[in-house]
Amino acid sequence: MARARVMPLVALCALAAFAVTGAQVVPLDSSKQVLDWSRQSNIKPQNFSLTEEDRLQLLGRPEEVTHRKLRERTRVKKKIEPVQQDDEALVKLENAGIERSKAVDSAVLGKYSIWRRENENEKADSKESQRSLGEATADAELPKSASERAKAMGQLLAKARDQLYDCKAITQRLRAMLQSADEQVRSLKKQSTFLSQLAAKTIPNGIHCLSMRLTIDYYLLSPEKRKFPKSENLENPDLYHYALFSDNVLAASVVVNSTIMNAKEPEKHVFHLVTDKLNFGAMNMWFLLNPPGDATIHVENVDDFKWLNSSYCPVLKQLESAAMKEYYFKADRPKTLSAGSSNMKYRNPKYLSMLNHLRFYLPQVYPKLNKILFLDDDIVVQKDLTGLWEVDLNGNVNGAVETCGESFHRFDKYLNFSNPNIAQNFDPNACGWAYGMNMFDLEEWKKKDITGIYHKWQNMNENRLLWKLGTLPPGLLTFYKLTHPLDKSWHVLGLGYNPSIERSEIDNAAVVHYNGNMKPWLEIAMTKYRPYWTKYINYEHTYVRGCKISR
Ligand SMILES: *[C@@H]1O[C@H](CO)[C@@H](O)[C@H](O)[C@H]1NC(C)=O
Ligand SMILES: *[C@@H]1O[C@H](CO)[C@@H](O)[C@H](O)[C@H]1NC(C)=O
Ligand SMILES: *[C@@H]1O[C@H](CO)[C@@H](O)[C@H](O)[C@H]1NC(C)=O
Ligand SMILES: *[C@@H]1O[C@H](CO)[C@@H](O)[C@H](O)[C@H]1NC(C)=O
Repeated sequence: MARARVMPLVALCALAAFAVTGAQVVPLDSSKQVLDWSRQSNIKPQNFSLTEEDRLQLLGRPEEVTHRKLRERTRVKKKIEPVQQDDEALVKLENAGIERSKAVDSAVLGKYSIWRRENENEKADSKESQRSLGEATADAELPKSASERAKAMGQLLAKARDQLYDCKAITQRLRAMLQSADEQVRSLKKQSTFLSQLAAKTIPNGIHCLSMRLTIDYYLLSPEKRKFPKSENLENPDLYHYALFSDNVLAASVVVNSTIMNAKEPEKHVFHLVTDKLNFGAMNMWFLLNPPGDATIHVENVDDFKWLNSSYCPVLKQLESAAMKEYYFKADRPKTLSAGSSNMKYRNPKYLSMLNHLRFYLPQVYPKLNKILFLDDDIVVQKDLTGLWEVDLNGNVNGAVETCGESFHRFDKYLNFSNPNIAQNFDPNACGWAYGMNMFDLEEWKKKDITGIYHKWQNMNENRLLWKLGTLPPGLLTFYKLTHPLDKSWHVLGLGYNPSIERSEIDNAAVVHYNGNMKPWLEIAMTKYRPYWTKYINYEHTYVRGCKISR
């Protein structure tokens, strides 16, 4: 059975809103203000950790809260206007989000993309359309003619109206995005997939606000307060180590909190969080204020990894050249959404996507460790994970759950088997596996020069003939015959696109994964899956409340 290729409902709703309102584009330029914060991230952390007293001071004693809020308001206002929670600020924040997502979209990398077959069925029932909304990728194509599309749209809108979707909520959210979108949207070029991706990649206002407030407060901390305790644990191979690469502070907090809350011996767990410049202060501040119990955490900035440069890393080289082409050939003719931006920094995809590719450099990032559990930031941990360190990988490098069982995620779905380099080296029926919760044996990795294998394939894919987007296809090639299948209950997938996962399967899972576009922090999240995630957020937290983040 082929998966449907239709206009996702988000796009339909957004288009409907656009058609109805015919709203004008109001370009706002809050992006610069947002980005300038990144400049301050070169302050080096010193010793000392945050004391209980500091924490109280930052979070505020009850009698101080009002006072502090006033001060904070002044400070925030002075420093960074988009934090204000009025309408204008909301629009500005949204625009900043759009700016960010433009940069992502211009990148050749998509976090959740897959190779699509040429001949997919265009008809869809409602479940399929929801799936397609969840799984849509930039390389999916539009229906062939406008009339076909109009028909498909009409049918889907009719279905959407009497089914589970709250179109209004989605349209409201997406209207602002759509309004500021330029020709590409109106030219109807790949907009269906584009819009659902935009929704998926845009950081919502609340999280943006949270990140900015935390950033401000981080840089107001005296340098000696910025250090995390227990740094002696970071390289101790007897502890349980996690790699978490994220630019979303709320998502990262859920991963860490859920892991610790369900750990039998929290003091034995160590989190290695890597983020980007933009979120470095916020991530530090969050975990200084909310330390993960007795566990250990530290935060690094991917831009500080000097060894990760374009002379070493093929994907960076490819990105930089693509970014340059974009800059020189498209800047004056804003044909694409990405070209409308005037901020070169936003167009440099390195900031946003290198975090994705960092998974191919684990021994370089953690030279002293022999095993590490890689976690995506769109997961929730529901059980003690230490059993994973006992699993015998049988000399393999990667422990992962396979995905070809109930559906059809085999190699030919992700890779171009018309290309001899693929056809001659791989089995099209080989079972795919999932990123999101992977045990990596770093000793075997080094022995087998996994990073070298990855570089080889990434170099061969310069013209994108082997695969289109993402890290899974190169991962499948790199870890071919080096992947040990883990029991499926360790990692249950699809909460970001599949509306029909068995409840018992979710409840039994050690880790649930919101892969797909319907992330739990977005309004388009599937409501029935959201509680598994929101459970690990303290909505009474001063910062969370202050940014109007609510269930
Ligand atoms: C930080 O701690 C180390 C040892 O724990 C000490 O030698 C060093 O002087 C400290 N640095 C500062 C700035 O206090
Ligand atoms: C680039 O990375 C390589 C190895 O990863 C390193 O030897 C080199 O010094 C780096 N170049 C710069 C300019 O940092
Ligand atoms: C697949 O590979 C073949 C051979 O290199 C190439 O001609 C074809 O364009 C590729 N398909 C896609 C969709 O890139
Ligand atoms: C972690 O989650 C629990 C349960 O929801 C919550 O009570 C706690 O405040 C959270 N901890 C942090 C540090 O956010």
